[in-house]
Amino acid sequence: MKKIVRFGVIGLGLMGREFASAVARWCHLLDSSAQPQIVGVCDQSVAGFEWFRRNFPGIKVFTSDYKDLLANPQIDAIYCAVPHNLHEKMYIDIIRSGKHLLGEKPFGIDQKANTAILAAISENPEVVVRCSSEFPFFPGCRRLLSWLSDQEFGQILEVKAGFCHSSDLDLTKPINWKRQIAYNGEYGCMGDLGMHALHVPLRMGWVPETVYALLSKHVDLRPDGKGGSVACETWDNATLACRVKGEDGHAFPMILEMKRMAPGMTNSWYLEVSGLKGAARFSTDDPQAFHYLESNGQEQAWCRIGVGSKPQFPTITGSIFEFGFSDAILQMWATFIEDIVVGGRSDVFDCVTPEETRLSHALLTAALMSNKSGRAEVVCT
Ligand SMILES: NC(=O)c1ccc[n+]([C@@H]2O[C@H](COP(=O)([O-])OP(=O)(O)OC[C@H]3O[C@@H](n4cnc5c(N)ncnc54)[C@H](O)[C@@H]3O)[C@@H](O)[C@H]2O)c1
Repeated sequence: MKKIVRFGVIGLGLMGREFASAVARWCHLLDSSAQPQIVGVCDQSVAGFEWFRRNFPGIKVFTSDYKDLLANPQIDAIYCAVPHNLHEKMYIDIIRSGKHLLGEKPFGIDQKANTAILAAISENPEVVVRCSSEFPFFPGCRRLLSWLSDQEFGQILEVKAGFCHSSDLDLTKPINWKRQIAYNGEYGCMGDLGMHALHVPLRMGWVPETVYALLSKHVDLRPDGKGGSVACETWDNATLACRVKGEDGHAFPMILEMKRMAPGMTNSWYLEVSGLKGAARFSTDDPQAFHYLESNGQEQAWCRIGVGSKPQFPTITGSIFEFGFSDAILQMWATFIEDIVVGGRSDVFDCVTPEETRLSHALLTAALMSNKSGRAEVVCT
């Protein structure tokens, strides 16, 4: 019999439902150590309950007060997917209640909030805490990761990583909390997208020493959804030029893009690594492909492999079939649940750790300073 990990979900919006859908298709995984089960859900708005009631008849608790889930001994772990201004208070309360937590990025609205969350984690080392980031679980990115661990690139010349959206190019779309500083934070698009772009770089130890940031805002007013318009306060786009010291002592540039207004993109996450011996890239814009460079030192050619479905945790899907966003979400959840049940396995690519969220806040805080000063700033880690 598989171990059951009993979950409470706080925040039943876009991401709360993605989690529930992954739970509903857990049978897709061939050899997961445990089975998640949703026992209780919480949202401040009852509108979110209907979908969960309809699709998950086994859910016992529907509440608008998240503390009801924390007090419930039938719940082992919480997924918390709420606006950024609520991360600090809710994550700290969850951790102190002794429940495991997969929290959403940016893991605190700002550096101060992140520091407080990390202090609560260090006081409660028995709880497993990770931050959500699903894109490295695409098989094409896994291939790039295996190139990195096999040192196929030689000395690194440059890294480019990014996450580019285009949904805010639709100027008729009513504004939501993601465009308001009180809920989303001063980081703007960097808070929304930065942790995704940084997951693999930080795991590789590519911690920027300095950053030069170009942040831009292009649209001042957006529809409020009630016939009027309202100020759109947050940064639309960010380009960060970072200086990273490689393991071999050579410094290299790392260019990070985090954009909510990127023409031609939908929800595109990418990573490109160039080195003296080789280069490779993966983008969710062409999710089946792993591109790598064949080079004899003089002539070079990009090659494209269709990697198929070869995820971290095997599934019932044949390896020649194609992999997508909801498959990546399922893999991220399988990884988190493995963390809870088995403990950190050295052979799996883990979800974002609290320490990696700390480093991302150090970078994003320095990026805000750089944009203000117009100079490159030291990233204080
Ligand atoms: N991993 C990803 O790919 C990804 C994608 C989008 C968003 N996110 C992150 O997920 C989090 C939530 O984003 P979303 O897109 O799901 O937002 P959303 O607006 O769709 O959902 C947020 C939900 O939180 C609820 N909520 C607000 N205040 C609450 C309270 N006090 N108690 C209980 N519920 C409350 C809202 O009613 C809403 O249903 C954010 O941190 C965001 O950055 C992650």
